[in-house]
Amino acid sequence: MENFTFTNPTKLIFGKGQLEQLKTEIPQYGNNVLLVYGGGSIKRTGLYEKVIAYLKEFDAKVFELPGVEPNPRLTTAKKGIEICKNEGVDFILAVGGGSVIDCTKLIAAGSKYDGDAWDLVTKKAFATEALPFGTVLTLAATGSEMNSGSVITNWETKEKYGWGSSVTFPTFSILDPVYTYTVPKDQTIYGMVDMMSHAFEHYFHLEENTPLQDRMVESLLQTVIDTAPKLLNDLENYEYRSTILYCGTMALNGMLSMGYRGDWATHNLEHAVSAVYDIPHGGGLAILFPNWMKHNLKVKPERFQQMAVRVFGVDPQGKTAEEAGLEGIEKLREFWMSIGAPSRLADYKIDDSQLELMADKAMVNGEFGNFKKLNKEDVLAIYRASL
Ligand code: NZQ
Ligand code: ZN
Repeated sequence: MENFTFTNPTKLIFGKGQLEQLKTEIPQYGNNVLLVYGGGSIKRTGLYEKVIAYLKEFDAKVFELPGVEPNPRLTTAKKGIEICKNEGVDFILAVGGGSVIDCTKLIAAGSKYDGDAWDLVTKKAFATEALPFGTVLTLAATGSEMNSGSVITNWETKEKYGWGSSVTFPTFSILDPVYTYTVPKDQTIYGMVDMMSHAFEHYFHLEENTPLQDRMVESLLQTVIDTAPKLLNDLENYEYRSTILYCGTMALNGMLSMGYRGDWATHNLEHAVSAVYDIPHGGGLAILFPNWMKHNLKVKPERFQQMAVRVFGVDPQGKTAEEAGLEGIEKLREFWMSIGAPSRLADYKIDDSQLELMADKAMVNGEFGNFKKLNKEDVLAIYRASL
């Protein structure tokens, strides 16, 4: 286990009826509030009216930034930054999924930065200050509600990068499973693939002696595998929605990744695909992750074997670590297909015409991945296997 320091300042407010905490949490920061949301789901579900009613209870002056795209764009964040700077916004409230929250993080930091907000995303500048912001999460997936990460797309240059800083943790996040009932089946699937992928990104590391971390990650994976089919047959079930919502947060709030560095290459591979084709993040991961695993099986077969045996119930008797590991990877692919996740880039009508471009985008900062450094040949091989 490596040395580590753990800190997570986000106040997590979980459960039915917790939305009313808005009226005690926000006034600590001021009354000028920017409300950020997506393409309209919160209006259709009635959540918008409820949020506005709580804001009115403390006489908030509310500005709005609607229309944040899935795979949120720089141009939209810049509109929010302008509102914050011109109107003296005290607090930003994100109501939506990971995209709305990620966009809000850039608005929060960009409002305190004099240069071009894209500098923060490309790490030309580092965010040292941000407006305070909170979230009401409506989709279980990214973990953005309790981490400092943000992923922003510059659609004009077809670039999509993750960034973050210690000042981009939400001050609070309200998670009421009831507000995730309306997440459509496909987005529910993508969300579960995403949280499982975060677990896998943690799991494939080269550190020794991480027994508790291993069991925690495996347990999260087993919980999602056990709950996913039940939830997909009963989308408005409070218990299943709450289990998955909690899994999504725990998968990427730092609790599972103390004492080692996970791999994260597959996320980089996926961001390059969705920068070019604007596909859902979880859909891209479902296609790429098993192929990343197969490509790197030989790096440390025992790790794949452990996953296969403990998470997918593979019998290791009479098999090499590599054989058992491969069986586990195949079981993962079967599981994702069984819940309706895509398995080939062709499912999104992506052919081989832009592979070079995607590979160049993935390689923009050179070789990447902590379990195994990928070079351009590796990247192209994984993309080709995913066609
Ligand atoms: O825009 P609206 O109308 O709200 O609709 C959204 C959107 O179309 C809809 N939705 C959300 N909650 C709903 C709902 N529809 C009905 N009922 C509800 N309760 O779902 C669609 C997808 O939303 P989005 O926010 O894009 O999904 P997700 O949470 O999966 O976020 C994806 C983005 O997060 C990034 C991804 O790359 C992608 O850009 N990631 C962020 C991370 C982070 N900050 O830590 C880590 C992740 O690995 C990921 O890269
Ligand atoms: Zn992800």
